[in-house]
Amino acid sequence: MAGSANLNVMMKTARKAGRALLKDFGEVENLQVSAKGPGDFVSRADRQAEETIREELMLARPSYGFLGEENAEIEGEDPTRRWIVDPLDGTTNFLHGLPHWAVSIALEHKGQVVAGVIYDPVKDEMFYAEKGTGAWLNESRLRVSSRSKMIESVFATGLPFGGRADLPETIQDLARILPACAGVRRFGAASLDLAYVAAGRYDGFWERGLHAWDLAAGIVIMREAGAIVEPLIPGGDILADGQIICANEPIFNGFAKVIRSA
Ligand code: IPD
Repeated sequence: MAGSANLNVMMKTARKAGRALLKDFGEVENLQVSAKGPGDFVSRADRQAEETIREELMLARPSYGFLGEENAEIEGEDPTRRWIVDPLDGTTNFLHGLPHWAVSIALEHKGQVVAGVIYDPVKDEMFYAEKGTGAWLNESRLRVSSRSKMIESVFATGLPFGGRADLPETIQDLARILPACAGVRRFGAASLDLAYVAAGRYDGFWERGLHAWDLAAGIVIMREAGAIVEPLIPGGDILADGQIICANEPIFNGFAKVIRSA
């Protein structure tokens, strides 16, 4: 699909960062068995990827703001536009040599995400969308699944780790949703979870405790693929609060009823 100049910049940048991360990922696999482990190396790779992305985007659009996972936000001369970037989503997977992680880049305009790309370099899958022009995976148009029965549906979520406060709620969510569906997956990269909802691979997703950079690109990609995307807590703000529920239209209400009945 021929995208706008902004979308082309975003895809080119995601590919550039992705190529470097893929090289680093090869090294991480070797470092698993070293006494020191891959921790410092991965932090450096993550920071370097954000630097590459920031440089490329700021060069192309010097007036836009920049919010990334690794550094303090940069206010742009144009206060209406900012990039929202996770240079390496799925850091724990990357660190452990698990081949499921992504680069996520979104463009926000006047508080709304208008374009997003999520690039999985291991599988060479580029998920992308611009508001009003559909969602795509490489050259193919994306649509959410058409499944309409909860009991046949597969959902995804994130399991809180490292003392995150939302652990008890998530355990209760699982106790309610597991008997009502065909399965729940936890692959460890929220951006790809959202891309997979857009691709119809998952029928829905929910998670609390996320950040704007985990979510921004996925929101526009899912909406353009036909998903219903809402704050998990009605009336909240997805990006500011970091909580989300999304699914294809036929099952959204049933799914949301189960998850929101906490
Ligand atoms: C994490 C992943 C994970 C989600 C966590 C995020 P990171 O992002 O997206 O799936 O459950 O909440 O923090 O730290 O790998 O960029």
